Amino acid sequence: MPPQLLDILRQLSHDDFHSGEEVARRLHISRASVHNAVQEAEAFGLRVQAVRGRGYRLAQPISWLNLDAFAPRLNDCGVRCQLVDVLDSTNSHLMQLAHEGEPHKSLVVAEWQAKGRGRRGRTWLAGLGGSLTFSLLWRFNRPASELSGLSLVVGMGLTRVLRDLGLVAAGVKWPNDILVEDAKLAGVLIELVGDMLGPSTAIIGVGVNVLGSDALRGQIDQAVTDLSEHLPVNQLDRNALLGAMVTRLNGDLERFDGAGFAPFRAEWEALHAYQKRHVHVLTGLGEQIGGQLAGVDDGGALLLDTEQGTRRFHSGEVSLRSGS
Ligand code: ATP
Ligand code: BTN
Repeated sequence: MPPQLLDILRQLSHDDFHSGEEVARRLHISRASVHNAVQEAEAFGLRVQAVRGRGYRLAQPISWLNLDAFAPRLNDCGVRCQLVDVLDSTNSHLMQLAHEGEPHKSLVVAEWQAKGRGRRGRTWLAGLGGSLTFSLLWRFNRPASELSGLSLVVGMGLTRVLRDLGLVAAGVKWPNDILVEDAKLAGVLIELVGDMLGPSTAIIGVGVNVLGSDALRGQIDQAVTDLSEHLPVNQLDRNALLGAMVTRLNGDLERFDGAGFAPFRAEWEALHAYQKRHVHVLTGLGEQIGGQLAGVDDGGALLLDTEQGTRRFHSGEVSLRSGS
């Protein structure tokens, strides 16, 4: 990312034009630096309108992340918050901190990720100013072998927040996605630290698309959506969304640590976008297994009714696709 791009963009607004000279003066940089940085913003998924004689204006209103806006509410739940402008990946960063003894309930939020990650080496792309990318470190009393339902609990909690905001079509897709009308809105990446037996630590990563970006869509090989397609602009404040999501996760994760996935199972199935649909499961070996989705078991494993009977799949192994 060009130096000072974020600082420059934070000086702009959607409502008014700001001249390059004014921005340059405020940041003690040259007008040419402002001009060059703004030219590059689009490559990061953010459009800036430039009008000769008037200056620059953001094409969409952006709610820049601000620690003072989201941290107080989260501190009250015992969550320690860090906001960083640019990281490779909030999961990678927090994983490193976990090895250095970072405490339970640490939250890392990035305004921009250079190397966001999905499951199994896949990439998570995020538009600058238009997405939420954060990770929460949680130290569980239960061993890692009992955390198989964790990504389902997280996806369900986030979906509940979105439904409460009015996005009633939001649903979960096993094991880690949030969809609206089959298009992907958000993803969850859980990474575990430590051994399978004792108390365990999870890095819970969440990426949510808030504003759309054509540049981003063009790079993603599946149907995607963002909150701006479904909610009014006054509900797209990323600080408020982050506060609501992490507050919800805090309560759900405490409950999950005590009781496991079983108490969440019925509610999760009620939110499952593919429940009872004909689907196929892709295994790591390239096999495709068709069947009707029966739901999940008390540990969060997928249950598929096939011609050979009900089969059970664990999330590390397979991907789920719509259609038989
Ligand atoms: P699975 O069913 O195995 O979870 P998946 O394709 O959803 O399959 P993930 O690892 O969950 O795979 O997510 C990574 C994928 O998500 C990428 O390969 C890409 O297709 C898609 N993707 C990347 N960035 C975004 C984004 N901002 N919004 C929506 N989808 C994205
Ligand atoms: C997926 O759908 O595969 C999961 C995507 C998870 C993306 C989030 S963004 C914050 C955190 N940091 C990462 O590198 N990935 C997760």
